[in-house]
Amino acid sequence: MNAQRQSKTYGHLAVHYRNRNEGHLAARLLRELGFTECYAMEQPGEGGTFFHFVIDEQANKGTDRIFYLLCMPEVLSSLYAEIGKRLGVGTADEAAEVKALRAAQAEDPEFNFHAAIVLPSLEELEEMVLRVQKLSNEDPELKGRVKVTLNRARPGTPEVDARMDASPVFANVTRHTYGPNGVQVFVETDLICGGPLGDNWAFEFDYVFPGYKDNILNAPSVEAEAAIAAKEGAS
Ligand SMILES: [Fe+2]
Repeated sequence: MNAQRQSKTYGHLAVHYRNRNEGHLAARLLRELGFTECYAMEQPGEGGTFFHFVIDEQANKGTDRIFYLLCMPEVLSSLYAEIGKRLGVGTADEAAEVKALRAAQAEDPEFNFHAAIVLPSLEELEEMVLRVQKLSNEDPELKGRVKVTLNRARPGTPEVDARMDASPVFANVTRHTYGPNGVQVFVETDLICGGPLGDNWAFEFDYVFPGYKDNILNAPSVEAEAAIAAKEGAS
């Protein structure tokens, strides 16, 4: 590996809002999630509004961490409509494969097409969760359009477990992350197009407790791999 070379970065992610008249509502949700709107303009051709967001205000005017939000083009919306029709989505004759996908997604948001953002502060993440849970429960525009799912840190690190127990949002959570020393927050919405049926998109927001060899996002350390191998050898 060339130590002089800088890493590539993610430049942007571009997603479509599903309904032309809901662009501003989708943009509002992104602001509530903590993204920064840099500019918006009328979208040539499709008739909606094009939004340029960044996932962190410190990325403004940069070339990475950009999130484009634009109106779903007609060719895509007509395709999703056809998929929905042929598979009977939302009807009594809904295909078994659709039911199976919905069940899997209800159980684990990782089954959704999603993008994950890592936050530098657990407190910031907790504030966002409280804000979005309130909107999901009470807001006249967003009620029923947003689902929040929380995974608290997998038990095993005493100080992390204590922080989880003291958390205003994770204390009573019974779901856990697959890996240790971090948390996951999933925010699903039908405002943004995602997945094979085009009707559910998910954001994942992660926080990783610093200072541990293993966490929910890194490649397992040599020690963790040895521990896993020893466990498998014993079973
Ligand atoms: Fe994920």
